Amino acid sequence: MSVVESPRPVLALSHIQSLAAPDMAAVDALIRARLASDVVLINQIADHIISAGGKRLRPMLVVLAGRACGPAIADHHQLAAIIEFIHTSTLLHDDVVDESDLRRGRSTANALWGNAPSVLVGDFLYSRSFQLMVELNRMEVMRILADTTNRIAEGEVLQLLHVHNPDTDEATYLRVIERKTAVLFAAGTQLGALASGADPATQRQLYDYGMNLGYAFQIADDVLDYTADAADLGKNLGDDLAEGKATLPLIHAIRQSDSIIANRLRDIVRSGDADAMPEVLTAIRATGGLEYSQRRASEYAASAEQALDGLPENDAMAALRGLARYAVERRH
Ligand code: IPE
Ligand code: IPE
Ligand code: MG
Ligand code: MG
Repeated sequence: MSVVESPRPVLALSHIQSLAAPDMAAVDALIRARLASDVVLINQIADHIISAGGKRLRPMLVVLAGRACGPAIADHHQLAAIIEFIHTSTLLHDDVVDESDLRRGRSTANALWGNAPSVLVGDFLYSRSFQLMVELNRMEVMRILADTTNRIAEGEVLQLLHVHNPDTDEATYLRVIERKTAVLFAAGTQLGALASGADPATQRQLYDYGMNLGYAFQIADDVLDYTADAADLGKNLGDDLAEGKATLPLIHAIRQSDSIIANRLRDIVRSGDADAMPEVLTAIRATGGLEYSQRRASEYAASAEQALDGLPENDAMAALRGLARYAVERRH
């Protein structure tokens, strides 16, 4: 006789957010309190990007991973703030590199103040995160975060090496997104578990969850760069194409199109021709590039959920499963 498992209910995003709300209020207060500098320009730029909000997904993952594995402790809030500071500093740097002018529904810092102040305030947030780490006084935490930030930097440089490269294939793309995005998700969920006193095997499960979720999240982001509504997204569409960045929908279109169209797409990647967007979208649609990418994102999200199998069920664990669904279904 086969045993049919009853499907677990999927928590709605609003339910997940309300579960995490008390922790997130504490994390936000900590972020605000620790932003301060007596250099006015730092406060202006840091406040500009942080007060615009953002989804605060990574710090939410830290506190939920912590609650999923044990009692909530103050270290979770500090770790969540550290992860959001690192994320925010990478956004300031990323918008300079990508020459983006819209972020979180506002003009980017580089558009308003210029590249140099954005890079330098990014460095401020980055080093502030190190100060917060040292306060925790745990070598294991510092090791994980040192390795993670180093991998993120590698990912950004690896991506730069492939800009305007029409031969960028799916394997290369996946290597880039692992480093630039997924490792920070993985560090966040592992650290949440570690701070709750979880054993190494459980930490590893939370790490695997975060890593797979990070892949799913970035692939979904790359689909949204072609399909979203800019007002919903709070970012301009087509930034990736304009920059000559071949992401999964376009990589798929290049490899599936006939040689005439493929060569044209390759030229567009070489030149980073934003005006070619309609043509590129036609080719992506004709080859099912959006569906393919969505499917890959869903596979990673399913792996994220699977990584949690065998762990005790509780509200926070259910919320983590729900966020895996949200990562690929989101509109912004
Ligand atoms: C943007 O991350 C950078 C990516 C890894 C795609 P988010 O989409 O989480 O950005 P915010 O924090 O909500 O603005
Ligand atoms: C995410 O890549 C880069 C970071 C990890 C900061 P994107 O360049 O796609 O991110 P968005 O779309 O600008 O947020
Ligand atoms: Mg960008
Ligand atoms: Mg993007």
